[in-house]
Amino acid sequence: MNVIKSFCLMIMTIAMNQVYGQYNDLWIPDTLSGTQFNLNLVDTFAQMRPGNQTITEGVNNKFWGPTLFFNQGDTVHMNIQSFLNDSTTIHWHGMHLPAVMDGGPHQVIPPGTIWQPYWKVTNNAATYWYHPHLHMMTQEQMTKGLGGFIIVRDPIEAALALPRTYGVDDIPLALTSRRFDASNAFVTTNTSYGDYMLTNGTLNAQVSLPKQMVRLRILNAEMERAYNLGFSDNRTFYIIATDGGLVDAPTPVTRVIVGVGERIEILVDLQNDVVGSTLDLKAYNGGFSLGFPGGEPNPNGQFGSLLNNTTFTVLHINVSNPTSNPITSMPATLVNNTYWTAADATVNRTINVTNGNPGGQPFDLDNTPFALNTINKTINLNTIEKWTITNNNVFGHSFHIHDVEFKIISRTVNNVGTFDEGWKDVLYLPVNSSATFVARFDDYADPEHPFMYHCHFAPHEDGGMMGQFVVVDNSTNIQEQQEAKEFSLFPNPSKDKLHIAFQGENFEVYYIKIMDAVGRTVYMLPRPQVQNGIDISQLTPGHYFLQLTEEKTKLTTTQQFIKE
Ligand code: C2O
Ligand code: CU
Ligand code: CU
Repeated sequence: MNVIKSFCLMIMTIAMNQVYGQYNDLWIPDTLSGTQFNLNLVDTFAQMRPGNQTITEGVNNKFWGPTLFFNQGDTVHMNIQSFLNDSTTIHWHGMHLPAVMDGGPHQVIPPGTIWQPYWKVTNNAATYWYHPHLHMMTQEQMTKGLGGFIIVRDPIEAALALPRTYGVDDIPLALTSRRFDASNAFVTTNTSYGDYMLTNGTLNAQVSLPKQMVRLRILNAEMERAYNLGFSDNRTFYIIATDGGLVDAPTPVTRVIVGVGERIEILVDLQNDVVGSTLDLKAYNGGFSLGFPGGEPNPNGQFGSLLNNTTFTVLHINVSNPTSNPITSMPATLVNNTYWTAADATVNRTINVTNGNPGGQPFDLDNTPFALNTINKTINLNTIEKWTITNNNVFGHSFHIHDVEFKIISRTVNNVGTFDEGWKDVLYLPVNSSATFVARFDDYADPEHPFMYHCHFAPHEDGGMMGQFVVVDNSTNIQEQQEAKEFSLFPNPSKDKLHIAFQGENFEVYYIKIMDAVGRTVYMLPRPQVQNGIDISQLTPGHYFLQLTEEKTKLTTTQQFIKE
């Protein structure tokens, strides 16, 4: 009996290895840096695994996108051109920026259009990411591969002796999994988990890492699964950063749970490893009780997966020769974070995970399914608030809020764990627990454009487990009703630059939309800097309408122009 069983297991193992190849070299996303970023969203296909190619979506790529390097203090300009057949949005997860630039469900990018948000980077050095956020389309578009890393640099981090040679001793790792149908298409509906691990889009990924101190920037880019990460020899590794910045000092751990949307940066010391030896980064996801995302025992079905409730390899590491200037030690301290406390908060809010409507989606927040036109919370600019998220329901979740980085101040289970340290924008919320954080809502007030808070599980978010808040500035007076300001466009016709002449002063532009002759939107320019004209060189020649919304009154006026 046992012999037969192990024989069958052997056959299965051999079959798996033959079909999928033992290891494939980890894909390291290419990089973009500077202040001007061109991102093309494309429908394409990729050889994700042997057999048919898979229909995918990518950013300048066949799956996933380039890693964007931002310097704190720079104003970064995005030029996003969508060649997709569907509408989408691109959200800058973790970035502190105006809501109109945020790329949430309201900043829709229709097919064939250009969106040009920009903002001043004020975030701390850490690992962030960008991904689609169109309501009810997030799971499908993330599954197909839209997304990418953002790495922010700042002077404090730059002054530390940390590994930071991208792709050599500083490795981005986007962890996710996919389920394929019989023709190798991604399954994008009625599934919470993939069956096959993809690390940066690579199946059975391996990487060579030098025999020295190595930094891994880990992002859980899953739909729902959490990862309980550790190394195959149970070695200690060190957390140096969480979602929104460095932690005060490297934190030694042997396991760390990373929920959907969360990032951690870790240091792994390979100096005592023999060149040519191997080591695996693994997800120790077996043995959790129900409620741990990916702990469900079933191997198939909507909530099952071949990777559920088991230990599996995330990355196979081959130790190679050290580089010429290796980092060989770890700073004892990293940064001196000053956090707000409960005592600083002047507003307390509670959010409850609740059951969705019978027959509808399984979960929502505060018994209120997401509605695009409902503002759930109004927050005063510069307020420090304390939010308690309570989950007395059947399952764990990943709670995320836009606009801010927060500090977790308490939890009802496991206290505030080591991986809750530092500035966070996502918290993993186990079943039958609550967590409390403090955040300050600075800088960007906009009564029109909301920010989101939601469960980051794509099926839950798409299903309405999301709410929205606006940040308002009560110190500015309510404007009395004004008339829309007049403007004219010159030269008209125009080839490259279109200039705007305003009548009167103090005219601030809130939004510009350019529509073609049949009224289809082609350009979306939030808060454009119009002093030097608008670059229309990418438009095809023809008749257009420019619709301008004014900052103070939010009134819109439209003028025609001709592109030569
Ligand atoms: Cu990473 Cu609202 O999202
Ligand atoms: Cu976000
Ligand atoms: Cu959820």
